[in-house]
Parts: sequence; C-alpha cells; structure tokens
Amino acid sequence: MELSAFSNHCRAKIDQVCIDFINQLNLANTLKASILYSYTAGGKRIRPLLLLAMVQAFNEDINKAINTAASLELIHTSSLIHDDLPAMDNDDYRRGKLTNHKIYGEATAILAGDSLLVNSFQLIIQDDKLTPLTKLALIDKLANCTGANGMIGGQQLDIENDNQALNIETLKKINLYKTGKLIEFSLVAPAIICNQDNEIILQLEQISFHIGIAFQIQDDILDVIGNKSITGKSTNSDNKNNKVTYVSFLGINKAKQELIFHFEQALNILRRLNLHSELVEAIFNLIIKRDK
Ligand code: IPE
Ligand code: IPE
Ligand code: MG
Ligand code: MG
Ligand code: MG
Repeated sequence: MELSAFSNHCRAKIDQVCIDFINQLNLANTLKASILYSYTAGGKRIRPLLLLAMVQAFNEDINKAINTAASLELIHTSSLIHDDLPAMDNDDYRRGKLTNHKIYGEATAILAGDSLLVNSFQLIIQDDKLTPLTKLALIDKLANCTGANGMIGGQQLDIENDNQALNIETLKKINLYKTGKLIEFSLVAPAIICNQDNEIILQLEQISFHIGIAFQIQDDILDVIGNKSITGKSTNSDNKNNKVTYVSFLGINKAKQELIFHFEQALNILRRLNLHSELVEAIFNLIIKRDK
C-alpha cells in the first residue's frame, strides 16, 4: 500500500477511536469541548502512523495496535496544549487555530492536558485484542516515554536551558527527550505488541534517537523559514522565547546537514533489521521533508 492510502486508512481509524473516547469524557462539558477542539484542529498524526507502519513491518495486523496508537496521539495532543501555555512557549496558534488556552482559558487548558495524559492509558487498558502482560509492558513503556524520564522531563530541560550557552550535546539531549521519547514509543510499542526480543528493541531505540532529533531539527527549521498558513503555528516562537535550537546554534545550512546525518543513521539501522519497512522509510522521509 502507498503511504497516502495507508495514511488515510489509519488516520480514519485513529480519529474514530480518539473522538469516541473523548466524547465519553462527559462529566464536565467545557473540558470535553476543549479536548475535542485541540484534537480535531488537525495535526499530521505522524506518531500513530509510524506506530502502525512498524506493526505492519513486523507482518502483524494493525488492528491490534489501533488503541495503542490512539493513546499515543492523545498524549501528544496533551503535550501540545501544555507546550503552548503562557508559562511555557506562550503561543497563540496551533494546528491552524487559536491555541487551547486562548479559547478556553489557562485553567481549562491545563486540565484538558492533564486529563488527556491520564485517560489515554485507558485506551490500552480497555483493548480486548491484547493480553494483560502485553498491556502492562505497553503502559510501562508509555509512562516512561511520557513522564519525568521522558517527554515531560525533556520539556523541563528545554525550559531550564532558555537563554543558556549550550553545547551541542545538551541540545541533543533536550531534543532526544522532549521529542524523541514519544517517537521512541511509536517504534518500540510495535515490538512489544509483536513479541520481539530485546535486541530488536535496542535497535529500535537507536533509530528513535536519530529520527527524534531529525524531527526536532526540522521543527526548528520550520520555526524560522516555515509558512504559518501551512505549519498552522506562528513562526519565530523559538527566537521570542530565547530558545537555543539547532538553527540558532548552527545556522540553517549546518542544521540541515545534521538533519540528513541523523536521518541516514536511522535508515541504516532500520535497513539492517530486514523488515518489511517501506512505509516506515516513507514516513521517515516525510519527517525530514515536511513543510508542516
Ligand atoms: C509538534 O509535533 C511538536 C514537536 C514535538 C516538535 P507535530 O509536528 O507532530 O505536531 P502535529 O501533531 O502535526 O500538530
Ligand atoms: C515541543 O517542541 C516539544 C513538545 C513536547 C510539545 P516545540 O515547542 O518546538 O514544539 P512546537 O514548535 O511548539 O510544536
Ligand atoms: Mg516548546
Ligand atoms: Mg512550542
Ligand atoms: Mg518548535
């Protein structure tokens, strides 16, 4: 299947699961509306797509992984709602619309992110296609990739290093955690679902190190030269927040060289695994060539 057909097919499934799930979070209707607002605003759905493409690379039925992929996309959405808050990047646009707090206020935006972070795990717990042991392993990995030792810890490092004279190793570490860790879940969750051994998981973690950094370099490039009507978010957010990025650190051209370096490293390790990974490769290509 071509990437565009695969992507349309998977996106419909993921969106249906996520939207049905959000709709039953109906104790406080404004909270539900605020969550739906950010989820349905758009978004490339790259993490769940990568996850499902990897399941296919292991020759397994993607339906076994839809709930897991949906839970990852909801956690990613929570990270964006919180990332845009005044206390963090203080941004006004996301996915082509006003940011969540601009519409619903900061308190509801914080709570929307909180509930997405917690409730998302239930999508895995409630999945009747997985064994209890597989679910536990997925939940453990997802909590690790998301929490203080994962994306959230990376966001803390990102904030602490505003205005700092960083070296490239620190910058790499921030990107590895704030962005690379959710991508790591995209690649490792399929190995857990498909009962792969630890050696494969280690290789997939190496791939996600490189592709996570490549993803963030392209994000940093788009922050400077992207078109707001395509990216759906304001340009120059990083400069406004005195962020040190690959672009501010190395300049656009060297940042692009680093991007290609990490992309090729990821591809080399992936190809050595000898999987049916054409779609995974196509998504890696999209990650480095995207304009949004
Ligand atoms: C943006 O992620 C946040 C980063 C980790 C750089 P995406 O570029 O995947 O955002 P959406 O989901 O498409 O809106
Ligand atoms: C975001 O990095 C990482 C997250 C965990 C959300 P950025 O702050 O650069 O992401 P954007 O550019 O706002 O999407
Ligand atoms: Mg940020
Ligand atoms: Mg931001
Ligand atoms: Mg950015």
